Amino acid sequence: MPFVVAIDGPAGTGKGTVTKIIADRLNLIYIDTGAMYRAVALKALKNNIKPEETEKIEEILKDISIKLNRINEKQQILLDGIDVTQEIRTPEVDDVVAKFAAVKQVREKMTPLQRKMKSEGNIIMEGRDIGTVVFPDADVKIYLDATVEERAKRRYKQNLENGIKCTFEEILTSIKERHILETTREIAPLKQAEDAIYVDSTELSIEEVVQKIIAIIEEKI
Ligand code: DC
Repeated sequence: MPFVVAIDGPAGTGKGTVTKIIADRLNLIYIDTGAMYRAVALKALKNNIKPEETEKIEEILKDISIKLNRINEKQQILLDGIDVTQEIRTPEVDDVVAKFAAVKQVREKMTPLQRKMKSEGNIIMEGRDIGTVVFPDADVKIYLDATVEERAKRRYKQNLENGIKCTFEEILTSIKERHILETTREIAPLKQAEDAIYVDSTELSIEEVVQKIIAIIEEKI
């Protein structure tokens, strides 16, 4: 039976970075579910659809194709066959993605797609509701956290490295707004699963977080 490692937590905790490293070290399939919600938001933006236009959202979800590839240790996201790896990380998508991720029809489409990925082998999946909704029976559950200032600092640095123009204040505001939306939405809100292990990354380096989570995984599996 393939096993599942679920990593949940808010934006900017270093979740993506550490999950990728752990996937490579332990030879697990890495799945970034946030990228899937970002792809949906991008498709909606391209079609001028607003989050409250649920009928139109249903239409674009009907034939949507989202593929997550790993090429030379780099993540590639294909939306309807087109490479949108960079485009899904722009501030425009950042600003609206939490609203689309709160739409019932969007979650009802993404959750089964994510569950299916277990058939591909041992997986490490990161997101907001992996340990609570997608895989409530995951073999290992981690809730990764950090203070909001530290999370904004990391996201800001990441954006600069990726050539995305923004100010620290914009990122801080956007991260705070998204956090409220993600934790208070009706369906699959971000919260720590009862049986998840809480890891605070505020004072830890990436390598320290990686080591800590690998030790937890190795103890459980
Ligand atoms: O992790 P991220 O910032 O790339 O996620 C993008 C958005 O998708 C964010 O607003 C939270 C949402 N999301 C979600 O609702 N459920 C998930 N399992 C993963 C992400």
